Amino acid sequence: MNSNSDIRTVGVAGCGLMGSGIALASALAGFPTTVREVDERTLDAGLARLHRYLGRMIEKERASEDDRKRVNENLAGATDLRELAGRDLIIEAVPERLELKAELFRDLDAIAKPEAIFASNTSSLKIREIAAATNRRDRFLGLHFFNPAPVMKLVEVVRADEVSEQVYAAALAFVERLGKVAVACRDTTGFVVNRLLVPYLLDAIRAFEAGVAGVRDIDNGMMYGCGYPMGPLALLDFIGHDTTEHVADVMTAEFGREMYRAPRLLRAMVAAGMLGKKSGGGFYDYSGDEPVPNDDRLRALVATWRK
Ligand SMILES: NC(=O)c1ccc[n+]([C@@H]2O[C@H](COP(=O)([O-])OP(=O)(O)OC[C@H]3O[C@@H](n4cnc5c(N)ncnc54)[C@H](O)[C@@H]3O)[C@@H](O)[C@H]2O)c1
Repeated sequence: MNSNSDIRTVGVAGCGLMGSGIALASALAGFPTTVREVDERTLDAGLARLHRYLGRMIEKERASEDDRKRVNENLAGATDLRELAGRDLIIEAVPERLELKAELFRDLDAIAKPEAIFASNTSSLKIREIAAATNRRDRFLGLHFFNPAPVMKLVEVVRADEVSEQVYAAALAFVERLGKVAVACRDTTGFVVNRLLVPYLLDAIRAFEAGVAGVRDIDNGMMYGCGYPMGPLALLDFIGHDTTEHVADVMTAEFGREMYRAPRLLRAMVAAGMLGKKSGGGFYDYSGDEPVPNDDRLRALVATWRK
């Protein structure tokens, strides 16, 4: 490969849920990594989350004290966008809004070195629409990580039409160096995983709405019948119902198929602030030591339109 596409240093824009995880995965793999946030307070909160997560990995023996040392040596935080300018690869993990991502990449395009590769971690936008904000569409692709990024093995490597073969190969090699598995896919809404996963998750909600079974039984069905590590309703709580509602709406607009349509219960849960784990409750209540299924509350919600 031509050396001008080698990835030796990494920049990450955004140190929220995904950005902090991606920066940690990159620093753990030994890449000098700079993660940028909008202000000091948000940066400190993001870095604290990153170090808390690393601490938990060490407790669970998924990482060692040597890893902590490597992360401390390789990781830097920044609020000035110019600190990303010299990086070989810049991965964006800012909120899922096209205009926000486009503005960030427009600014980065003006200051980053010409050979820098740009990547977006978007879950539902088209890579080509974000890349259009730049003059380097041949050096722009999708790197879609999964939460929690330091431990989830998969990265979807999204090939927008104009990306060069050399840049695409460099991105695949980068994912491999992270110790992860790359799935090569086209730039189409939902890529591989959400295209298949979202209808399944929405059907689990529809099964509950239809009174087929209770929360625990639906989850146990898929865990013990299909060998899934987590049931669909617990997974939905983990993802966050506002996120799933948004992705379902984007996929419905794109494909116009009933299987992607957000069920009424999902919308009602979002409206009621039952967003899942992050809000303390969703299909399960997380206020105690163990999650407790919320069947009664959810059935009461369904009853409001099934009267
Ligand atoms: N949450 C998931 O499970 C998941 C999984 C895969 C991909 N994604 C995608 O990753 C992206 C980020 O999602 P998230 O869940 O981490 O969101 P988040 O809200 O937790 O984090 C986004 C962060 O970006 C920061 N930010 C905003 N503008 C910025 C800028 N110009 N420069 C630097 N930082 C900026 C915000 O302050 C915030 O901390 C989205 O595109 C989302 O679709 C999310």
